[in-house]
Amino acid sequence: MRRVVVLLAVLCVCDGVKFGQLCSGNSNNTMRTSDKWGDGHYGARRGNGTHKGLDIVCSDGSTVLAPFNVTLEGGINIFNDNKTTINRGINLRGEGLCFKLLSVMPDQTSGSVGKGQRIGTMLPMQEVYPGIISHVHIQMCDRTDPTPYFN
Ligand SMILES: *[C@@H]1O[C@H](CO)[C@@H](O)[C@H](O)[C@H]1NC(C)=O
Ligand SMILES: *[C@@H]1O[C@H](CO)[C@@H](O)[C@H](O)[C@H]1NC(C)=O
Ligand SMILES: *[C@@H]1O[C@H](CO)[C@@H](O)[C@H](O)[C@H]1NC(C)=O
Ligand SMILES: *[C@@H]1O[C@H](CO)[C@@H](O)[C@H](O)[C@H]1NC(C)=O
Repeated sequence: MRRVVVLLAVLCVCDGVKFGQLCSGNSNNTMRTSDKWGDGHYGARRGNGTHKGLDIVCSDGSTVLAPFNVTLEGGINIFNDNKTTINRGINLRGEGLCFKLLSVMPDQTSGSVGKGQRIGTMLPMQEVYPGIISHVHIQMCDRTDPTPYFN
């Protein structure tokens, strides 16, 4: 019983949280729709698996912004593929949420960044996936659906 109460308390902290602008040039956090490489929504097909994140449109080289006050919890460097130009990202916390942004080159990997301030730069996704709708991939640390945190 006690466990249930604690869980509800945690959920309430995040209730109503919305991401502010993530990428310069995309003021309303427009999601990636469909392109020849796939679809941007949570649960979309990815090879034999499913997409456990949400893709927000972001042109290559754009500035990536803090969606609310965040703390930076370390950089991400994925070594197990050939997509070396876009396989970087950052772990973040804020507003009670733990999440990561991928295909972003962070300016720094620790400390805090205020809402609307720059976190880093969108990496050159067109070089790896020509014709894709370039996007930042948002993934919650528990792999749940981030969509409710967007309008
Ligand atoms: C978001 O902004 C884009 C470009 O300014 C616009 O085309 C689009 O209709 C907007 N979407 C929503 C849901 O407001
Ligand atoms: C997808 O599943 C098929 C059939 O099981 C398998 O042959 C293929 O290697 C799988 N692809 C990936 C990327 O895991
Ligand atoms: C975000 O951080 C700024 C600067 O530290 C502070 O003034 C503001 O109150 C914070 N906003 C929230 C919602 O915590
Ligand atoms: C990655 O690149 C190496 C060297 O070019 C190549 O041998 C390998 O097949 C590539 N792997 C994938 C999964 O594309």
